[in-house]
Amino acid sequence: MSHQFQVLIEPDKTELSRVAATSFADSGRAAVSQRGIFTVALSGGSTPRGLHRLLAEEPFVTGIPWHETHIFWVDERCVPFENPASNYGAAREDFLDHIPAVQKNVHPMPAHMPPEEGAEEYQFEITRFFGKKAHEIPVFDLILLGIGTDGHTASLFPGDPALHARGSFIVAVKGGTPNVHRLTMTYPILNGAREILFLATGKDKAAVVRALIEKEQKGLPAQGIHPISGKLTWLLDRQAAALLKDRTR
Ligand code: 6PG
Repeated sequence: MSHQFQVLIEPDKTELSRVAATSFADSGRAAVSQRGIFTVALSGGSTPRGLHRLLAEEPFVTGIPWHETHIFWVDERCVPFENPASNYGAAREDFLDHIPAVQKNVHPMPAHMPPEEGAEEYQFEITRFFGKKAHEIPVFDLILLGIGTDGHTASLFPGDPALHARGSFIVAVKGGTPNVHRLTMTYPILNGAREILFLATGKDKAAVVRALIEKEQKGLPAQGIHPISGKLTWLLDRQAAALLKDRTR
């Protein structure tokens, strides 16, 4: 595990979203002051939606350097953007449509293409954006992740060959809820990030959170997340942290 590892426990989902938004803004300002650009990859599902909504509100909306912020996705369901299952569609509704400055800097996954082609296309887009050679791994400033009760993260599901992808950093998979074709980042690009923030809320996540943080179970996809040199933070609400033996972190 990364030497920069921390677990933060907030009283509830509202407070967790506020802390996550603060962290997003802090990372953005630090990245822009150090490198002139902030690259972030978002996850889907319901957990980050409170954070996403806050980004369109004060103090975040004016505190984030949106002109220099480039938004990508960790994973996407291959459904039309208007479909309620679309991660990009949800993020548009929650904040992207409310921040005009950011429109040109949004890089949705190509969910409309045949999945394998979409994966290649997004890998190509990211490689070009970061000015890398083919198969050189780009480094994101911030990657936001969620977890499922089965230990999946991004769209890396238990037993899926995507867990072993090394050359491709975007792949097509099928699974999850909804059980549809998806595009997902793989470990090499996720673990290359400068900062990874896991968000988990609610009592349904308590058992998997304990299994992951206290390393009680092997073979859970989220256990493959070990930033190479970046920082890893687990941001939990009290319910998701309820089964941790040590809650004083
Ligand atoms: C996606 C994801 C996925 C998600 C978890 C948690 O399905 O698009 O990115 O990894 O983060 O399934 O989802 P919930 O927040 O809905 O529990």
